Amino acid sequence: MSQLVVMGNTRLKGEIRASGSKNSVLPILAATVMIEEPVVIKNVPELRDVQTMISILQQIGKTVAFENETVTIMPGEILVGNVPYELVRKMRASFNIIGPLAMICGWAKVGKPGGCNIGQRPVDFHLKGLEAFGFKITEEHGDVMAVIPQNFEKEIIYALPFPSVGATEQLMTTAALMEGSVVTIENAAREPEISDLQNFLNKCGAQVSGASTPTIKVTGVGKLTGAEYSVIPDRVEIGTYLLGAIATKGDIKIHGAIADHLIALLRILEEMGAGIEKSHEYLRAFWKGPLNPVRVSSEPYPGFPTDLQPIITAVLATVEGTSVLEENVFENRFGYVDELNRMGAQIKVSSSHANIRGVKKLSGAEVVAPDIRAGAALVMAGLAADGETIINNATHLFRGYERFQEKLRTLGAKITFYPDEE
Ligand code: UD1
Repeated sequence: MSQLVVMGNTRLKGEIRASGSKNSVLPILAATVMIEEPVVIKNVPELRDVQTMISILQQIGKTVAFENETVTIMPGEILVGNVPYELVRKMRASFNIIGPLAMICGWAKVGKPGGCNIGQRPVDFHLKGLEAFGFKITEEHGDVMAVIPQNFEKEIIYALPFPSVGATEQLMTTAALMEGSVVTIENAAREPEISDLQNFLNKCGAQVSGASTPTIKVTGVGKLTGAEYSVIPDRVEIGTYLLGAIATKGDIKIHGAIADHLIALLRILEEMGAGIEKSHEYLRAFWKGPLNPVRVSSEPYPGFPTDLQPIITAVLATVEGTSVLEENVFENRFGYVDELNRMGAQIKVSSSHANIRGVKKLSGAEVVAPDIRAGAALVMAGLAADGETIINNATHLFRGYERFQEKLRTLGAKITFYPDEE
């Protein structure tokens, strides 16, 4: 099993640069399926999930090159409307390809993603939305088959039952090429990655408006054109390091961050009594004395991001008093709590709540990372703890954090990666 070994009693100090957003680039790459001209995407983080999406594009006939944080997608010869479960299994965001691929091939068959460590994560909103667009959806042997209708209705309105990020992206992308149709998506997700996708699609000639509001309107066009586009900085990566600085009583600056994307986190950090400095060039987080316990509730954007929930828990584990965390996006996102408790934290979970009774200090232990963000939480906890922490299943981290060890080392961490022994 791959391991990260982290030395404790480390204060993170120094300056790093934010990477491009993983959650932005994945749906943007999925959308490139619909573009039969060269596309260049810049500021792309070198991550396993990005590699998985590139493999899918190559599998269906695109020629893709990835170097110097730039992905170039050349139109391939024949597109195959079939994405095997083997690739979808690695990453749920692969499912975002089904609508765009069907728009190009007339049909698409994509393995249905299973549950994962943070919850069931069904794709029913994606499929109900595509059905509302007139697609015929069938499921067989674990695959979903989507077939486009002969004609699209002139006006289509679909209200999402929950502002799902993935379903919003799937539907707005697919609708972009539905010539003759005006599609309204209600109760849409408002995350910054949705605006980024809108900007990308529009740069390619689409007519999408309303991103960052609950109502997105897409007027379908007959063709999308090639373009060059640079993705936004990764707010989850930035939030992770800011929280790491506070967990370890440190002081860091992150260049290239957009503070507006992190408002909910910055507000909570200020309420806790952490030092925050915002400028056009950087975001700085620094420890300026004992912190206050807080109540945090994860919500769809602009609320507190669920992806930072495990990491703020790692900070609150040593804040005197009782903090309360409520998870409102995923049903099973406390899988890492037992691991933090192995390090001496006092956290009790009951359904969607975690009660965190702050202890003076955590102590290093051998733990297992259940997913990307929980893995990052255990690393930050390990840096602040006494002694050494061994995090098993560490490859999860490389799905979501570009140059993770390198960035942490720049900030003064002692961290070593031991790959799988196969
Ligand atoms: C995206 C992010 C992920 C983040 C999440 C919530 C990417 C690649 N991943 O995931 O990092 O944690 O948003 O901010 O961008 N749901 C359904 N049916 C569906 C779709 C979703 O029930 O068809 C439920 C999910 O199980 C979950 C909730 O809706 O409980 C939110 O999920 P969603 O916003 O879709 O998350 P993802 O797009 O998968």
